[in-house]
Amino acid sequence: MARRRMVYEGKAKILYEGPEPGTLIQFFKDDTTAGNGEKHELIDGKGVLNNRLSEHFMEGLASIGVPTHFIKRLNMREQLVRAVEMIPLEVVVRNVAAGSMSKRLGLEEGAPLPRPIIEFYLKNDDLGDPIVSEEHIIAFGWASQQDLDDMVSLGLRVNDFMSGMMRGVGIRLVDFKIEIGRVFEGDFQRLVVADEISPDSCRLWDIETGQKLDKDVFRRDLGNLADAYTEVARRLGVMPRSNGSNTGPKLVH
Ligand SMILES: Nc1ncnc2c1ncn2[C@@H]1O[C@H](COP(=O)(O)OP(=O)(O)O)[C@@H](O)[C@H]1O
Ligand SMILES: [Mg+2]
Repeated sequence: MARRRMVYEGKAKILYEGPEPGTLIQFFKDDTTAGNGEKHELIDGKGVLNNRLSEHFMEGLASIGVPTHFIKRLNMREQLVRAVEMIPLEVVVRNVAAGSMSKRLGLEEGAPLPRPIIEFYLKNDDLGDPIVSEEHIIAFGWASQQDLDDMVSLGLRVNDFMSGMMRGVGIRLVDFKIEIGRVFEGDFQRLVVADEISPDSCRLWDIETGQKLDKDVFRRDLGNLADAYTEVARRLGVMPRSNGSNTGPKLVH
């Protein structure tokens, strides 16, 4: 493999310098973490699945005019993206109570919310990604009021699109997290969806059975995570498994 400069190694991905200025290569690892890195395992094939699924979602978003950092997938584990200036926030959109919101507010997991609810968390591993208010965000300069308005609007558009896509394959989009970055064009800046959209960053429940098809399978030891993600990919028509060849007959199971 040609040598290239690593820019950042995170918990689930590695960023390398891209072939052209302003681009990066995102490498999807099999590393799977929960509880801010307390629980950590390698799950064979997870990176391949997330690379494919994130490509699928980002391309779908682009097709309805939602700007993203995605340029193209390069191979099973890597994709070319636009380098952006990340806003240090996680934008969470929720349709159904679950996870930390259920705990914090004493809501039963699975309780539908009256409308999509957006939350912001500061992306800071040392602090355990604390929830922050818009007041905090503006006062500490993590984003401007205009950025906040744009992030809410991006979050809701991603929610509409992803909810519909998932509903079409019998899956409820309970909640998800996106990360957003700035791209500069002359004097203007634009916000784009960056990082990844995958079952690592969504809660996905089978509509019929309630079965979890997302990272909670790992967080809560509910079974085989790669099987769950493969099921999502299969339903969406994204074929993730490859033994080196993408053509030829495929095992149907
Ligand atoms: N287009 C982009 N340009 C610059 N940084 C990005 C881009 N997309 C994602 N990132 C950042 O790259 C890192 C991806 O690696 P990841 O393993 O998810 O890291 P982390 O453990 O920090 O979440 C994240 O810190 C994310 O904010
Ligand atoms: Mg991350």
